[in-house]
Formats: sequence, structure tokens, C-alpha cells
Amino acid sequence: MIILETERLFISHLCADDAAFVLELLNEPSFIRYIGDKGVRTLDDARRYIAEGPVKSYEINGFGLNLVRLKAGHAPIGICGVLKRDTLPDPDIGFAFLPSFWNQGYAFESAAAVMTHAREALGLARILAITSPDNQASEKLLGKIGLRFRRLTKLAADADEVKLFTNEPAEV
Ligand SMILES: CC(C)(COP(=O)(O)OP(=O)(O)OC[C@H]1O[C@@H](n2cnc3c(N)ncnc32)[C@H](O)[C@@H]1OP(=O)(O)O)[C@@H](O)C(=O)NCCC(=O)NCCS
Repeated sequence: MIILETERLFISHLCADDAAFVLELLNEPSFIRYIGDKGVRTLDDARRYIAEGPVKSYEINGFGLNLVRLKAGHAPIGICGVLKRDTLPDPDIGFAFLPSFWNQGYAFESAAAVMTHAREALGLARILAITSPDNQASEKLLGKIGLRFRRLTKLAADADEVKLFTNEPAEV
């Protein structure tokens, strides 16, 4: 199901057919370093991740991480969407792209469209984001879509500190 269309991209719901791409993306060193190791090592793991993560979120929240594909050739290049975590008070935006598609504006193009959709179609006024403290590429992108650094936080008592960003209204 296509959720959004931008100049160069289709943004759609993930489904079991996207398992091979998800397996590749989740094992990229950059994904493991900046987001975490989801323990997805096989196509079956990837299908389970899609079903229990994004697809469950679409059902419960009406939104979740989406697949981003190039309009030209339809190749999947990344994921981008809004999540609702038990550990944060408001939904947060997340994204990750294969390194061969970095620095071409695709992450910005999809994240900007997801922010507009969150506000206008989903009615979400406040959007958060979290990054590891050294993720400068992500912080730069968040700044371009209107999110500002507020403070360091922890998602669990024994977790590492992360940077918390939010759009307006600022209190969080
Ligand atoms: C975070 C991440 C998605 C950022 O991706 P990115 O490639 O830096 O972001 P963009 O695709 O928007 O590319 C930005 C650059 O593309 C170039 N660019 C922008 N628009 C462009 C266009 N229309 N055409 C060509 N190039 C363009 C510019 O050089 C821009 O850099 P600038 O902001 O300094 O001007 C990527 O680093 C990633 O996937 N990291 C691993 C996962 C991760 O960390 N996720 C976030 C967890 S919090």
C-alpha cells in the first residue's frame, strides 16, 4: 500500500515480500552502530521482524516504519516512518538508508514527506526523535525537518544515553 509519493520516491507499508531488503538493511554496519542489532540473520527472522514490528504498528497505531523505494526502477533504498514506543511520551520519527543511497537527498525527501503526513493526515502535533550522541548525519537531517535537540535521556534505566529531539511545542 503506497502511503506517500514524492518527486523521486514511493513510500509504502512494509510487507513480508520486503524480507530480503530488510535483512540487508538491518545488517548494515551503520544500522547496527546507530540503531542497534535486531538479531535479524535470516529471511525468516526478517519476516518475523516485519510482522511483529512495522505491520503490528500499522494495526495498533495506524502508522509505523515504511519502505522507501525509488520511483525509477522501484529499488528499495531505506525505511522511514513514525513509531510509537512505550518508552517515549509521543511518537518519534525514524529512518535508515543503504549507504549507497546516502548523500543524495533521499533521506530528507522521505523524512520531510513523513513529517507533513504525520501532522496533516495523522494529526500528530508533536513528533520526537532519538539518536545516539555521535550520529551527526541523523542530527543534521532532523534539523532540516524542523526538530531541535532538547536534552539527553535514557529509554531505560540501564540503557545508554541518547539525544532527544522534538518539533514545537518544545516541552518534553
Ligand atoms: C541518517 C541517514 C538516513 C542520513 O542520510 P543522508 O544520506 O545523510 O541524508 P540525505 O539523503 O538527505 O542526504 C543529505 C545530503 O544529500 C545531498 N543532497 C540533498 N538534496 C539532494 C538532491 N536533491 N540531489 C542530490 N543530492 C542532494 C546534500 O549533499 C545533502 O547534504 P547537506 O545536508 O550537507 O546539504 C543515513 O546516514 C543513515 O541511514 N544512517 C544509518 C541509520 C541511522 O543512523 N538512522 C538514524 C538513527 S537515529
